[in-house]
Amino acid sequence: MIYLDNAATSFPKPEGVYAALDRFARTALANPGRAGHKMALAAEHTLDDGRHRLNRHFNGRGADRWVFTLNCTDALNMAIKGSVQDGDHVITTDLEHNSISRPLVALAEAGRITLTRVPADASGTVDPEAIRAAITPKTRLVALTHASNVLGTIQPITDIARLCREASDAITVLIDAAQTAGVVPIDLQAIPIDLLALPGHKCLFGPTGTGALYVNPRMKLRPWREGGTGGDSSTPTQPSEFPYFLEGGTPNVLGVAGLIAGIDFVEERGADALRQHEVALCDRARAQLQEIGGFEFFGHTDPTRRVGTLSFRSEVLPAPELGGILDQAFDIAVRPGLHCSPYIHKSLGSYPDGLVRMSPGPFTTEAEIDQCVAALREITSGV
Ligand code: ALA
Repeated sequence: MIYLDNAATSFPKPEGVYAALDRFARTALANPGRAGHKMALAAEHTLDDGRHRLNRHFNGRGADRWVFTLNCTDALNMAIKGSVQDGDHVITTDLEHNSISRPLVALAEAGRITLTRVPADASGTVDPEAIRAAITPKTRLVALTHASNVLGTIQPITDIARLCREASDAITVLIDAAQTAGVVPIDLQAIPIDLLALPGHKCLFGPTGTGALYVNPRMKLRPWREGGTGGDSSTPTQPSEFPYFLEGGTPNVLGVAGLIAGIDFVEERGADALRQHEVALCDRARAQLQEIGGFEFFGHTDPTRRVGTLSFRSEVLPAPELGGILDQAFDIAVRPGLHCSPYIHKSLGSYPDGLVRMSPGPFTTEAEIDQCVAALREITSGV
């Protein structure tokens, strides 16, 4: 199998991640914080370690500001449903994944918020001035992705977050780092981000079922999931202590053990080097496919403005069919279709069939990219 679907989840994981999962599952897989015995304490220690590692990696304002979640969608729902109030105006963009779009559209359709969706340009970039122009006295949340999961285009989040903070202290800036956490450096003390949602299983190389929400100390969130937190069983409602306030239920401590090893891998290789490797492989595929002809490409042409995804369509076969043949006949995994991000496909004119998205990872080789290109040549020349 040639796996080119790392934008959905990274595979394979670094060896250190498999080893950490195996070791933890065999020795320390107790319920963290629910008892005082040694294994429970070891499990709790792993959660603390994970929070410290995230805080250090993203230069946050304290390990206790990191809430573990099931995935990035869980973190985004926690952020949106925990911060938005009836009557608020919210700004988002055309680039968003359904993990931001669906909760916001549901709130808008219920008449609880008003929603402005700012378009992206042809390269897949949102202009900070368009965000500024959309702000009203009622704007309370600006929610956007750090990089499009379809086009890979990295957004000017520093400019956007700064202009929002300048416009009003009452505006919360929520960044979806699903495609960037681990491959694009993010400094939470340099950029005024209020809420940062990330998956553990993509570019941080943890297993699925891991994610986190960073909550800036200036933020007050309501918990959208309530339940046992371990430490304080006596209070009738959620104990207010962070991060337990938002973490009702047994956390995925096994996943966090793997995530810590994933962060080790990212720090050994370096986020920039990981991104550059993946972008170079995408550019290699793009150059070869352009030479073959019959493919249309989408996304930013500047390799410094992209993460490692290449989205394209063929003139002769719709994306879902092309993806299906790559899988069935060539054992090559890509993600065709709308990528859970329908608005950008509508804007690009690739709705409803979508595009083929190829997303290499740190272990992808040039030979694998060449094999994928050869397969695409064979499929499309036979039509
Ligand atoms: N959000 C993931 C993707 O882009 C699953 O494929």
